[in-house]
Amino acid sequence: MGWFARLKIADKLGVMVASVILVFSLLAGIMLWQTVSEIMEQDLEARGRSIAGEMAAMSSDPIQTGNLLALDELIYMAKKSNSFVEYIFIVDPEQQVMAHTFHNGMPKNLLELHPPAEGEGRKADVMAFSSDRGHIQDILQPIEDGSLGYVRIGLNNKALTILLENKFFMLVFITLLVGLLGALFVFRLTRVFTKPLVKLMCRAEIISRGEFAEPPLHVRSKDEFGRLTEAMNTMAEHLHMGEMERKRLLGHLLTVQEDERKRISMELHDESGQALTALMFSMRALAKQTKDAETRAYILAVRDEAAHILQKLRSLAVELRPPALDELGIEAAVKNLVTNYQRYHALRMDFSCKLHGLPDDAASLAIYRIIQECLTNIVKHAEADRVFILLESQEESLRLVIKDNGIGITQAAIEEARRTNHLGIYGIQERIRILGGSMKIYDERPAWGTVYEIILKTEMKEGHAFD
Ligand SMILES: Nc1ncnc2c1ncn2[C@@H]1O[C@H](COP(=O)(O)OP(=O)(O)OP(=O)(O)O)[C@@H](O)[C@H]1O
Ligand SMILES: [Mg+2]
Repeated sequence: MGWFARLKIADKLGVMVASVILVFSLLAGIMLWQTVSEIMEQDLEARGRSIAGEMAAMSSDPIQTGNLLALDELIYMAKKSNSFVEYIFIVDPEQQVMAHTFHNGMPKNLLELHPPAEGEGRKADVMAFSSDRGHIQDILQPIEDGSLGYVRIGLNNKALTILLENKFFMLVFITLLVGLLGALFVFRLTRVFTKPLVKLMCRAEIISRGEFAEPPLHVRSKDEFGRLTEAMNTMAEHLHMGEMERKRLLGHLLTVQEDERKRISMELHDESGQALTALMFSMRALAKQTKDAETRAYILAVRDEAAHILQKLRSLAVELRPPALDELGIEAAVKNLVTNYQRYHALRMDFSCKLHGLPDDAASLAIYRIIQECLTNIVKHAEADRVFILLESQEESLRLVIKDNGIGITQAAIEEARRTNHLGIYGIQERIRILGGSMKIYDERPAWGTVYEIILKTEMKEGHAFD
């Protein structure tokens, strides 16, 4: 019944109504056939008996006067006026045929087939048999209690059966037609009723994809469907408002985080960096003034240590907030990032940038952070030695592709990471959602194990990136 489960409600109801009507019409037809054929058989016999009685009464005189011509005329007329009479013949008490209606003579054995019962000959007697002309009811009617002979009439119900068959098939045809019309009507009616349901179903599917901003469905009636539609509209509105609020909060959180990073970066660079530089100058001066060679070497070693800390502070400051991003733009900032990764990791990296104009600040920052996270992931998880990055402008959007030739990523790994609060890819998705865009992760084996493809909606500013 898999096919039935796959049908729409309207189709299901149509099939059900049609099958029920079909079964009922067949049952009703069979019952009707049996009842009517029984009644007709009884009716035929009664009519046969009445004709036989009449024949017996009317043939008495011609038999007594020996007028065989009148006898012939009598049975011929009786057969002619009753289509269901197959034959009539009259025999004398010794079973000698006096008159018959057969054109080609009396069939053999017909006489012996239905002989008068011994002793009693008063009543008409009926016997049925099958012949090449169909089912025959043979009536034997005594003339003057059998003293003058007997009338035999054969009744054939073939004509009646054909009539009955015709009526039966007509009945079945009409009920089938009515059934089909009924099924069609139910189908149309269900379509009318399920139309709002289909609309609701489509809207529920749209909402389940996370698209809440669709215009509300038009509510026409106040019935159950109307109320359901209203409830669905309200639900979508609440979800949309919740989504907007979440985006706003997330955006705010990212801005606050970036501001904080910027502040810490400047603090590290300006305050701590300046203080360390001043300290290093003082140490060098102190080393110059010191006469003792051992103490001087010690002071210079401490100064070198301070220079090393300063270097680390600077790269931390750059990582927190790349100055190139604000000053030189996204292309230069990504190039610096790539150079740094190549310096510290065994990766061969290609970066291709085909931008017409400059992306706005939010998009630039998002792209930088996304590349940063993807490169960190490659170093942490991919076991790759080649990376390819492409950043290009498209109509009203930016396309970023990052590929590595590593072991590849699985959906299960992404979900597992998310369950255990590793939110790198989730963070990328959220950034994209705030700006409007999409991300796909797939592989291009054998060349590339993981491909991140990101489309970000952004307006490009006029201008050129500096190298
Ligand atoms: N380039 C890649 N190649 C192979 N696997 C990857 C790659 N990038 C990510 N993964 C897999 O996807 C998972 C999810 O990555 P995600 O960045 O969300 O989390 P994480 O890197 O494990 O943690 P976090 O980013 O929070 O430090 C990773 O744990 C890793 O199994
Ligand atoms: Mg990560």
